Amino acid sequence: MCGIVAYIGKKQAYPILIKGLRRLEYRGYDSAGVALLNGELNVFKRKGKVKELENFVEGKNLDATVGIGHTRWATHGKPDDINAHPHSSGNGRISLIHNGIIENYAVLKTLLEKEGHTFVSETDTEVLVHLIEEYQNRENLPIEEAVRMALKKVVGAYAIVVMDKQDPDKLVAARKASPLVIGIGEDDFFIGSDATPIIEYTNKVVYLNDEEIAVITKDGDLQIKTIGNVEHTPFVEHVEMEIEMLEKGGYDYFMLKEIYQQPATIADCMRGRLNAEEGWVFLGGVEEHSNRIINADRIIIAACGTSWHAGLIAEYLIEDLARIPVEVEYASELRYRNPIITEKDIVIALSQSGETADTMAALELSKEKGALTYGIVNVVGSSIARFTDAGSYIHAGPEIGVASTKAFTGQVTLLTMLALSLAHKRGTISKSYFQQLVNEMENIPAKVEKLLKVNPQIEFIAGEIKDATNALYLGRGYNFPIALEGALKLKEISYIHAEGYPAAEMKHGPIALIDENMPVIVIATNKSAYEKIVSNIQEVKARKGMVIAIVTEGDKVIGKIADYTIEIPDTDEPLTPLLSVIPLQLLSYHIAVMRECNVDQPRNLAKSVTVE
Ligand code: AGP
Ligand code: GLU
Repeated sequence: MCGIVAYIGKKQAYPILIKGLRRLEYRGYDSAGVALLNGELNVFKRKGKVKELENFVEGKNLDATVGIGHTRWATHGKPDDINAHPHSSGNGRISLIHNGIIENYAVLKTLLEKEGHTFVSETDTEVLVHLIEEYQNRENLPIEEAVRMALKKVVGAYAIVVMDKQDPDKLVAARKASPLVIGIGEDDFFIGSDATPIIEYTNKVVYLNDEEIAVITKDGDLQIKTIGNVEHTPFVEHVEMEIEMLEKGGYDYFMLKEIYQQPATIADCMRGRLNAEEGWVFLGGVEEHSNRIINADRIIIAACGTSWHAGLIAEYLIEDLARIPVEVEYASELRYRNPIITEKDIVIALSQSGETADTMAALELSKEKGALTYGIVNVVGSSIARFTDAGSYIHAGPEIGVASTKAFTGQVTLLTMLALSLAHKRGTISKSYFQQLVNEMENIPAKVEKLLKVNPQIEFIAGEIKDATNALYLGRGYNFPIALEGALKLKEISYIHAEGYPAAEMKHGPIALIDENMPVIVIATNKSAYEKIVSNIQEVKARKGMVIAIVTEGDKVIGKIADYTIEIPDTDEPLTPLLSVIPLQLLSYHIAVMRECNVDQPRNLAKSVTVE
């Protein structure tokens, strides 16, 4: 969680930091702060959005060419001015920003208090800065050595950047299990939690690895060593990202832009990997492991949130088409329940950010147990992408809205191609069905484009249900995970309580909730079990529930029963999720806008969950 940005060089630091914080705000927005070094060490921090900080610093002396900035997603201590980062040492000499959790902070705090340190905040982070100060005082160490000694004592996850007033031409950065990227400019350096605050200035970056400490100086020197004091040569890479990708481009919210980008992002995901004319699907990133995958005992998918829903669709796809058993696990549960994982298993991690701590931990465990690990990730160069044995990027471009939309359809597109390729190799579907599905995949972007035209109708329906306090989403088969995803989208951005259920399960409990105030959104595009879902709709109507049905174009039956219907283009059943999710994304979006919620930055959430 949280965004880190830092600058050292010849330019004014503040404008770079504040712009960087705005770009990183999607990662956390409980508070924002900067520390600027210019003879004096000046710290400005404020509860709330980056805008609050900008208002606060107006008229203040911001002149400095070295600085650090932070936007927080609170783990320890409420969001307020004092708990905001940067945190300073007792003697006012050191300033530090941190992303992650110091798990043994309570023990360290007690020890430091005994040594006479006084704490002002409730954060876990503050122990770090006092610990560094303690080492500096005790052994008169340079800042990078004091940081190294302190990190040896720390248990937990961190990405940190530290400044020392008495060593003003230097920044020290370190990471363990939280991301950190260093941008190499002409004659300056940038640091970010990801590349978004950096790419405006340079595309040359060094991704810091776990337990590495970087020491960066104003005269252009970058040195990396480990916490164990072993020197590492910085590995410089190039990031491909355009500034326009990080702008709203005329849309009111990033989420809406990202919903509308889906025809393009789905096509980008398939580019070079699927060819209908020649009848092939090819996933380069896993090809060399293809024997191991087609002969696997089991595929285990580990993910969280929306990515977990995409994983559930993969279970339907891979079992249906390729006949390999699939288990879909919440990464956080997989990790802590002593699971049975062997070398005959393939563990797929699904993650937009590639930084989700629970998913990363599940992968580490799976690798230890000998499974082949395969990452399906959006953010290029992210921790999961770099950790796994095999990988495929979904190529959705930066997703900034906290609610995942285009990354979800990217994941489902990728997983559909995976299922098709495995099915083809294993001979579990006929050549003609394979060809039919490949052909239809190529039609999906155009069908999404067409589907987006129903937006005004969805906006109207949103107006009808915007004041509901609860909502139920029902679906069967391939559409059951879509019901879960629709409910999550509504919950997270509009704060309406919603639940997704397999349609047939409704009669085993949730049916008791149904009355005239309960909107029930039914995804009823199935070809198999169509009559069954029609009966489920009847059951809701018999109890006066309001039914909004997502149906296939030309459906003549459901329109007569449901209160509202939204038509989606016809497609093959395994590909339905790529279409049926779109109206649900738009529905949540419009309801959230009508309820005056902050669509892109919903309360309590953050885009990238780098804490367990
Ligand atoms: C999606 O709308 C959510 N904000 C959230 O559930 C997200 O999908 C989850 O945190 C997993 O993130 P990841 O895909 O980056 O691993
Ligand atoms: N644990 C720290 C805090 O609560 C850092 C959280 C973050 O990553 O933003 O302040």
